[in-house]
Amino acid sequence: MSRQGLGWTGLSWTGLGRTSLNGAGLDGASLGGAFSLLLATAATLGLGGCSLDTANRENGTEVSGSAEWPVSFAIGQDATPAEIAALDIDFGPDGAGAPPGSGSVAEGKAVYDAKCAACHGPTGQEGPNDRLVGREPGDAFLFGETRSVRRTVGNYWPYATTIFDYVNRAMPLSSPGSLAADEVYAVAAYILFLNEIIPEDAVMNAETLPAVIMPSRDRFVLDNRVGGPEIR
Ligand code: HEC
Repeated sequence: MSRQGLGWTGLSWTGLGRTSLNGAGLDGASLGGAFSLLLATAATLGLGGCSLDTANRENGTEVSGSAEWPVSFAIGQDATPAEIAALDIDFGPDGAGAPPGSGSVAEGKAVYDAKCAACHGPTGQEGPNDRLVGREPGDAFLFGETRSVRRTVGNYWPYATTIFDYVNRAMPLSSPGSLAADEVYAVAAYILFLNEIIPEDAVMNAETLPAVIMPSRDRFVLDNRVGGPEIR
């Protein structure tokens, strides 16, 4: 469906605080004009997915104003360093972004029993929600061949740091973000222990968690697409 076929019209930003309606043969005062305006809005927001400028260029209408846009539209405010820090919580596989803190398997069991077991089961296998614990015989990786194997932290996740990152931002489901860093390190340690990846006396912190080698670590390749159709 071409935009021309829709009777495409466009809105343009004049840079002077006005929005004007562009359209071939458009009578803005008529019902037809109002209908075209609706179509233009729909195409811009949903169907076209393009900017107003692009729409106008495609429409053959000279873009008025992008060069005249003000430096600021005087809305919003700069994020403060504290606001950015509150959102900048990713903990990468290389350990970048790891917060200070630590937690043992035993401490993690206490956190897990109190805050996780109700949804993930007493040993992380029973549910009712996602199964967190379980390895395949020989650490087989059958996900490309069958849909019957349930993904767990132990049989699928390539990086231990993802446990911290995910739990820290998303769990417990009922109050995400409520855990202290020590609690997240501890519960990550407990989940790794239940998956038989680390021993019972292990302590997880900014250095030890990224150093954990997950069973499925080498089952993935980096997504190195460059924007075209080629895949690795
Ligand atoms: C109220 C129920 C509930 C509680 C409590 C809860 N979770 Fe979850 N958890 C879920 C649900 C539902 C999902 C799946 C979310 C999704 O797929 O978007 C999930 C997903 C996860 C995952 C990702 C599983 C995967 O393979 O993708 C992990 C890890 C996890 N939870 C850990 C925890 C930990 C640790 C706690 C306790 C600190 C916890 N959860 C508490 C409901 C809960």
